[in-house]
Amino acid sequence: MLNFHGGRQVEKLVSEEKRESLLKDIEKHPALEVDEAFLCDIEMMATGALSPVGESMKKEDYQSVLSEMRLSDGVLWPFPIVVRVSAEDVERFKKVDTLRLVHKGKCYALLHVEDIYSYNREEEALRVYGTTSTEHPSVKRLVEAGSYIIAGPIDVLRRPLETLFPEHNRTPSQLHQLIIQKGWKTAVGFQTRNPIHRAHEYIQKCALEIVDGLIVNPLVGLTKKDDIPADVRMRCYEVLLENYYPEERVILSIYHGAMRYGGPREAVFHAITRKNYGCTHFIVGRDHAGVGNFYGPYDAQKIFDTIDSSELGITPLFFENSFYCRRCGGMASFKTCPHDGEGDRLVFSGTRVREMLSRGEVPPPEFSRPEVISILLEYYQSKNS
Ligand code: ADX
Repeated sequence: MLNFHGGRQVEKLVSEEKRESLLKDIEKHPALEVDEAFLCDIEMMATGALSPVGESMKKEDYQSVLSEMRLSDGVLWPFPIVVRVSAEDVERFKKVDTLRLVHKGKCYALLHVEDIYSYNREEEALRVYGTTSTEHPSVKRLVEAGSYIIAGPIDVLRRPLETLFPEHNRTPSQLHQLIIQKGWKTAVGFQTRNPIHRAHEYIQKCALEIVDGLIVNPLVGLTKKDDIPADVRMRCYEVLLENYYPEERVILSIYHGAMRYGGPREAVFHAITRKNYGCTHFIVGRDHAGVGNFYGPYDAQKIFDTIDSSELGITPLFFENSFYCRRCGGMASFKTCPHDGEGDRLVFSGTRVREMLSRGEVPPPEFSRPEVISILLEYYQSKNS
């Protein structure tokens, strides 16, 4: 039995029959361009990954998500899912009952307008991201977005990310079927927006010691410009799994979401949506979904102290900062390693590794598997040439 959040599987992809009828007079509805991040939300609504949300939120839900981290019916929910429009758009759309949601000329969904309201960007930024600084990528997007929200149910006509990485692209129902087929009773989900390095591998394998299977579930939706593109990362994941992971205990399957860099709230969002994809456990490591210094290294773990495990419905597994320790002679973490002398621990930041790679320097094998490094070097060389 799939364990959808809020007890409801909400899949908004319309049936073939309904699509045919909706497409007939589709041109009569005005078009509204949505950004790449909302396109990922449409994808997740289509398949039930965003259950129980299947709409652009009305004011009651929006306010409640901001202040209580819950939908207005009390279901735990950390992020507003909304379509934002400008004041001019409000003028254009105020008498319209249905909008076509388009991206780069292609229509993906219909929005049945039930409510239009203004909102306070600063309040949203502070409550959701804990900052109003436009150095934060999601706050920057928020500041640039329209100052009204247009709300109502959504019908998805075509899945925006359906054809991406076909071998690893599964809906929640498909992934769940595969988990059952493998006979796993427990499966731990791993979120990542980076190439997997040794610390990632270490915490995944620690988790795998206590559950039946591992779902490497890389995010392939919108990320920051300086993050490594999903196609390059997918090659890294494939080569790593091929060489270092037990095939019968690991599934590589994409996560269709956009990155919000929302630290604590995003850890909750990631956990809930992984539950929708069929995971029973979810890894939350150091500075999960963080960016810059906006969050403390364990803020994304601490937020779970405030949430009742029965309403979360998935077990978070927390990991401390992990690294290679020369004196331990292996991977370890703040929790397990007693050595903190000069040069004992090899701790690399993503930024430092990106800098090294862009200079053509090779990070050591204690940081990353050589097969992964060679794909990354090739990517940086082609980028610099
Ligand atoms: S994230 O934005 O998706 O969180 P990243 O892909 O780097 O970034 O992290 C994936 C997961 O690994 C997150 O749960 C993160 O907290 C965890 N993680 C990353 N690096 C480390 C590390 N050195 N030690 C422990 N956990 C880590």
